[in-house]
Order: sequence, then structure tokens, then C-alpha cells
Amino acid sequence: MARAKISAVGAYLPDHILSNTDLEKMVDTSDEWIFSRTGVRERRILKDKTKATSDIGVAAVKEILEKSNTDPADIELIICTTVTPDYVFPATANLIADRAGLKNAFGYDLNAACSGFLYGLTTGAQFIEAGTHKKVIVVGADKMSSIINYGDRTTCILFGDGGGGVLLEPDESGEDLGIIDSIMKSDGSGWEFLHQKSGGSLNPPSYETIDRQEHFVYQEGKNVFKSAVVNMADVSEEIMKRNNLDSDDVDWLVPHQANLRIIEATRARTGIAQEKVMINIEKYGNTTNGTIPLCLWEWENKLNKGDKLILSAFGGGFTWGSIYLKWAYDS
Ligand code: UT7
Repeated sequence: MARAKISAVGAYLPDHILSNTDLEKMVDTSDEWIFSRTGVRERRILKDKTKATSDIGVAAVKEILEKSNTDPADIELIICTTVTPDYVFPATANLIADRAGLKNAFGYDLNAACSGFLYGLTTGAQFIEAGTHKKVIVVGADKMSSIINYGDRTTCILFGDGGGGVLLEPDESGEDLGIIDSIMKSDGSGWEFLHQKSGGSLNPPSYETIDRQEHFVYQEGKNVFKSAVVNMADVSEEIMKRNNLDSDDVDWLVPHQANLRIIEATRARTGIAQEKVMINIEKYGNTTNGTIPLCLWEWENKLNKGDKLILSAFGGGFTWGSIYLKWAYDS
């Protein structure tokens, strides 16, 4: 069985910056409160009303194809993980495939909220490991600004727009590179603490749901925080133990960027040194499905072949998980 390796990374961030100072003018908050409680200073916003999550995905895919010198027609599958699809249906993956020229790929979306990219990565890897597919793209992207209430100070300070993706191919190096292990978990009883109340089949859109502002992210932050701190740390520790890794063996911790305090709790539990943790929450906030590919993209030129990475996430659902992989190329 050939393992699935990441062979290229691409990403896209909108240009417009929404800073904490800007938010101070919109809601009753302060840069000091936001930064000390979350670690966020600014986030990117896709301002152009004609653009959506698929545009983030198309840009990321084009960068992946260019960097890896891959013919778009050779991609066999694209998985898009998102909570802000362009439409309820069809899948955003199909829209991305069409506009990026992936004419031979089948595609589907996957929704696991903030853990989506890890769920997508582990799912995409199965197609490679099964030997049925040789080139799979996994995109994690969100236009969170489309579901954020910029009058709600408890959520608007957290989220931003952006995303990225990776190309998965079989590792034929004989050096045991690629995705080695993954642990994915969910607990649906946590649904109520983080969800979008209306717009689905339970509460379809109506004048009333709009009046009640139910098409935005609803979060009970404290409850999500408590579960995130415990579960993201637990699952990271579990995957390290299962693979006989101690903190010194790990080259990089790649955490979902929801809150700097959650990242720090995970880091502390795993004992991984601070300088080995990828953190960019200060610049981009929580881009939901985008955070982990954006970290890989930003740190790509610091990564070396054989580096051991632990990817970890927690999100709505609840969903959480961790992936252990060995980086497959020098930049
Ligand atoms: O990625 C998916 C998963 N999502 C997460 O992981 C998010 C998890 N949750 C969190 O990160 C944190 O719970 C938040 C950052 C959302 C909130 O931080 P907190 O330390 O849990 O604050 P809190 O909700 O307990 O609020 C403390 C106080 C409250 O005032 P009172 O009741 O003590 O008077 C809030 O009303 O802070 C107030 N507050 C604010 N003050 C200034 C809440 N939001 C703000 C704000 N600016 N933006």
C-alpha cells in the first residue's frame, strides 16, 4: 500500500484587512480585549459581492497545479471542505473543478466545520491508499463573512475569509513519507453550542428567520472553548502516543486557529516547543476550513522532507481530530 503524501500546497487570502481597530467602530469591543482573549489582531474579508468560497478554492487549486506542474486534466478527485458553500447545492467542489479545468475529476463537499480539512485529508488519502486514484486535491475554504453578524461582538471578532488546499499523490519514495495515521472524532450532542439556526431543512429561510437573524453563526463560546481545550489536546496526545512520538520527535504542530489559548493548551499538553507551533491567527483569525492549509502554505518554505507534523483541529458538531504525517518534499 502506498501512503498518500502531500506534494503541493496552494492558498488564497483576500486583500481587504478588517482590523480590531475597525471592529472597535462597529461593536462595543477593544483591540486589547480581542487580542488578549483570542490572539487575533486582524482578519481578511472577501469584499467583492460577486465572489464566494469557490473563488478562494479556484485560486488555491490553480496555485497547486502551477507549483506541481500538473495538467488539470490529470486530477481525478477534488474534495472541498467548507461551511459556506456557494450554494446549498450543487457542491462547491464541482464549481471549483469546472473553473480550474479539472475536467476529469469527480468532486464533492464535506462538512465537518472547523475540523473539515482534517476530515477531508483523511478521506482523500483513502482513495490514494486504496490504489484507485493517483491525484486528489483537498481544498479547505470559507467565506465566513457571509454568515457572520457584524453586530454580534462575540462572533464577529473571531472569523475571517480565506483557504487553501493540497495535492495528494502516492508516496513512491520508499522513505515512508506521507500521511501515517489519523484519528477523527465527533459528538453530535455538542451541536447546539455552535451552529447556524436557519437555512437548512429544519428551519428553511423565511422572513421570520431573517428577522430573528438566524442565518448567522450562533456560538456559546465558553462551552465550545471548554470542549476544544480538552479534546484538541487529548487527540493530539493520543496520536503521538500511538505512534511512539515524544515532543522532541515532532518537528511541527499545525493547530486549527480558533483561539490562541486553545492552541497553547494543546501545545502545553503535547510538550512541543513553542517555536515548533505554526501560528498565524493574529493575521487571519479563524478561517474555519482554511486555517490548516493556510498554515502549511505559509510555512512551506521552512518544511523539509521527512519533517514530522501533527495536525490538530476542533470545531462545531462537535468534531475533532489529529493527523500524523511526514512531509514529503524540500521546498
Ligand atoms: O473554531 C471553532 C470553535 N470555536 C472556538 O474554538 C471558539 C471557542 N471560544 C472562544 O474562543 C471564547 O469563548 C471566546 C473568545 C469566544 C470568548 O472568550 P471568553 O473568555 O470565553 O469570554 P466570555 O464569553 O466568557 O465573555 C466574557 C465577557 C462577557 O462579559 P460579562 O458577562 O463578563 O460582563 C462578555 O459579554 O466578555 C464580554 N465580551 C466582550 N467584551 C468585549 C464578549 N465578547 C466581547 C468583545 N469585546 N468582543
